[in-house]
Amino acid sequence: MTQATVSTDKLSTENKHLSSNGKPKIIGFVCEWSLGRNDIIHEDGTVKGYEHIKTIKIPCSGFVKTEWVTVAFENNAQGVFVLGCPLGDCHFNEGNFIINERLSQHVTRLTNRKTIDDAGRVAELYLGVTADTEFTQSLEDFSRYIESLPPLAAPVKKAKGAAKPASKAAPVAAAGGEA
Ligand code: FES
Repeated sequence: MTQATVSTDKLSTENKHLSSNGKPKIIGFVCEWSLGRNDIIHEDGTVKGYEHIKTIKIPCSGFVKTEWVTVAFENNAQGVFVLGCPLGDCHFNEGNFIINERLSQHVTRLTNRKTIDDAGRVAELYLGVTADTEFTQSLEDFSRYIESLPPLAAPVKKAKGAAKPASKAAPVAAAGGEA
């Protein structure tokens, strides 16, 4: 009788888009002013009850560089979200309006370049410090949506010597976010 063998290397490559809880990896950039209660998020940035969602705190959603979103997808994230303060209520005046505008343009670029297959892989949330329930409900909805999508094709690795992005340290990589 012939026994089928599967290379463990192949398996680990195929599963890079999944977290240890078997769910698609999601990265969130979270404005530290918009989440009052830190007990929703573990010290390592994962969200309680949603260990496939890793968050990275930032001082304001307007600080998010759109290339960080690209880097997250290049590091096997299947979904990315930005959480900012309610529109009109940013501590830096217009940070959330700025990222709101930039993200919509960037998502178009990502879909045109086929980095992502569905614009819904990028979400924006604008919530205040007391909106814990809305936050977790939004994550639940987003997570379910991402789970309903097929895994993204593995990103094409850049050839050695290829031009590097201007920013040296995208926080996704810095956070060990092999997302
Ligand atoms: Fe929270 Fe600007 S301070 S979005």
